Amino acid sequence: MSVLLTGGAGFIGSHTAVEMIKAGYDVIIADDLSNASPKVLDRLETITGVRPKFYRIDVADRAALEPVFRDNQIDGVIHFAGFKCVPESTKLPLKYYRNNLDTALTTLEVMEDYGCKAFVFSSSATVYGEKNVAPFTEDMPTGTATNPYGTTKLMIEQIVTDAAAANDKLSAVLLRYFNPIGAHPSGLIGEAPNGVPNNLMPYITQVAVGKREHLSVYGNDYPTPDGTGVRDYIHVVDLAIGHVKAMDYALKHTGSVAINLGTGKGSSVLEVVRAFEEASGVQIPLVITDRRPGDIATCYADASRAKALLGWEARYTLTEMCAHSWNWQNHNPKGYDD
Ligand code: UFG
Repeated sequence: MSVLLTGGAGFIGSHTAVEMIKAGYDVIIADDLSNASPKVLDRLETITGVRPKFYRIDVADRAALEPVFRDNQIDGVIHFAGFKCVPESTKLPLKYYRNNLDTALTTLEVMEDYGCKAFVFSSSATVYGEKNVAPFTEDMPTGTATNPYGTTKLMIEQIVTDAAAANDKLSAVLLRYFNPIGAHPSGLIGEAPNGVPNNLMPYITQVAVGKREHLSVYGNDYPTPDGTGVRDYIHVVDLAIGHVKAMDYALKHTGSVAINLGTGKGSSVLEVVRAFEEASGVQIPLVITDRRPGDIATCYADASRAKALLGWEARYTLTEMCAHSWNWQNHNPKGYDD
């Protein structure tokens, strides 16, 4: 079975490539490398012994995407390609709507033209919005996202759901990720954000490696046990294995279904910092600042549907997630740059 990973050179895509190859899939990656490094391909080959076929293309470009389907028998697509920086999406909403919607629409159209039926989408827990109360279950009404990035995830979920309702050959799984952290245990692939990281774990690892002075904790007056924000952190390798199971499922079913990929357990910012300090032996200086606009107090999954439908459960602990994030950053202080 051949599977195309759009955006497959990125953080989650590259880890998914490893697990798909391990599970016996032929992996093809299409990525324009606008937010990923070509070195990922060498690292994937070192980890798996297989070099995935690679197309450096923007999948929103139909003329560039069609030959990928013409030249390969593609059984399914896992669609990661898209912009993902929340604050940038607020500053440049048109860029986010144009890119994220175009990459999804063109991929779905070309799939339809070539009779490719299984689609797995990289969605986000952000679709639950601000009003639902955790644990989030997939049949809760989705909310209003607090930023254009989140709105693109909601819109694409709707597009995919409508496409699957209209085409009984299409099978779609909408994977709602909680907070992916960690890295491959080899330390060869990991998260390499451009510029100042927005997310908690890459910020912590950059403080640990001496690149940033301190971590700003965005608010300690939330209605949570220690006042800091609570999230459901999930090891990126567990998340990647969830994609393998989702593709196995999509290839055997029709229709569309949303599935949470989380651990079902929330951890506060201070708990993550303590777990990181324990795993790395490095102290992280903290400064408490104001809340970050758009952040909710508590976000964690009800992970039971993934277990029931996919037979999938997260396995790694928070300490292992921190140890692997640190192993990656410590061995690659500049990410993929030498
Ligand atoms: N935080 C800090 N300091 C930082 C960065 C984050 O205190 O420097 C806090 C946040 O306030 C939050 C927690 O750490 O309480 C996690 O923040 P992240 O930015 O790592 O993650 P978010 O939960 O805000 O966002 C993530 C993804 C989004 C996705 C969302 C879905 O980055 O893409 O989860 O819930 F939409």
